[in-house]
Amino acid sequence: MADIQPLLRRPAPQPLASNENGRFDHLVRPDGMVHRTVFTDPAIFEREMTQVFGGTWVFLLHASEIPNTNDFKCITVGRRPVIVTRDANGDIRALMNRCTHRGTTVCLQAQGNASRFQCAYHGWSFSNTGELLTVTFAEGYGPGFDKAAHNLGRFPRIETHGGYVFGSLNPDVEPLPEWLGPARAMMDWSLTAFTTPGARVVRSSSMVFNANWKLQNDNNGDMYHVPFTHRSIAQMTAERHGAGKALDHFRGDKTPMVVQYVGHGHKLIDQRPAIPSPWERARPVPGREAYSQALHEGFGPEQAQHYLNMTGRAGINLILYPNMIISGAGSFNVYEPVAVDKTIVHSYSVVLDDAPMAVNALKSRFLEDFAGFGYRDDNEIFERIQHSLSTIPEMEWVDFSKGLGTDRESVGADGTITGAVSDETGIRGAYQYWVELMERDVHPCVLT
Ligand code: FES
Ligand code: FE
Repeated sequence: MADIQPLLRRPAPQPLASNENGRFDHLVRPDGMVHRTVFTDPAIFEREMTQVFGGTWVFLLHASEIPNTNDFKCITVGRRPVIVTRDANGDIRALMNRCTHRGTTVCLQAQGNASRFQCAYHGWSFSNTGELLTVTFAEGYGPGFDKAAHNLGRFPRIETHGGYVFGSLNPDVEPLPEWLGPARAMMDWSLTAFTTPGARVVRSSSMVFNANWKLQNDNNGDMYHVPFTHRSIAQMTAERHGAGKALDHFRGDKTPMVVQYVGHGHKLIDQRPAIPSPWERARPVPGREAYSQALHEGFGPEQAQHYLNMTGRAGINLILYPNMIISGAGSFNVYEPVAVDKTIVHSYSVVLDDAPMAVNALKSRFLEDFAGFGYRDDNEIFERIQHSLSTIPEMEWVDFSKGLGTDRESVGADGTITGAVSDETGIRGAYQYWVELMERDVHPCVLT
């Protein structure tokens, strides 16, 4: 026994309750360590569905996904099935996809156009504002039956910024602009530089990984992993096309790129200082030369360059807590938590109806390129993390301390914290917000 003592890294672990009296700060330490159960404990996941996905703003959809009166789209908000509709007045509503009779979903179609939804079980029908319109065989209900109390549940709060629609089940949540804070300026930069008045969002693909949703959220604010996890892409690009293309702009922290924590769980990787021209920096994709030539011939060099720069990677990762990342140029991903160890990531692209076809074609090729190849690398890592955190209870902590206690971090006048680009500054900020949300006294509710 004596000779194994020096090999023990720390005392035998004490059982650590995941939820002691509603406190969660013991799971996120000031030294940047986060307890493994934050990723593996089903009870914590359940609480997140109420406190995080029910307690703050959550991205629902882009307004252009339901452009016309009576359009609707079914989504999931912290596992809740939700129908987002555009009613006769053009207002966007978010309705619980749950019949107020016996509870089945009232809409099975992923997306479509309908002014009312009829339940497939006993035939009650509801308007796309949630109002209960018809009760079948109504004579069977006594005088005490309150029809108005049987409207579909509605989100109490919906607000929009730049076409991005957010909803909250917390009626007391702060106004959206306040919650977005400095992230709002980043969204505006992306909207101004990379979209046109005819911008329209289309769904591109969905991927499932068997790991906790926060691993994706963390990773999108992590530049540290890029040269290692995505090494095969970087190497293949360099060998085929030489230096100066995507992913070789990060080779360490001697760079003007930064990571920022911008409050309310939101974080930013700002690669713009290293990407003066998104087009020049982008990896070659099929059709690149032909599309470029067509734009030059059609619009002249200056306008062609403007268009081409709208197609490449824009140089920001803006992660809006808890469920989306805007990765420049308007493309974005939405994380859908399914279980403590299962997540779906939905990818969306922006189509510019008033831009030449070549612009949209190139935007699609670039999205296939990195989301298509790159995300698979990341997903593999998430699943390995989930496995080891779940199966080795003797090692309790996950380390997010990079940058902490160094002179690389600085706090701005607006409260944003800036670090070297490979630091875990943004991730630590997000976990502080997670604790705040998990401990907060919130009462998510629906309106009827
Ligand atoms: Fe919907 Fe009965 S469950 S009408
Ligand atoms: Fe990655």
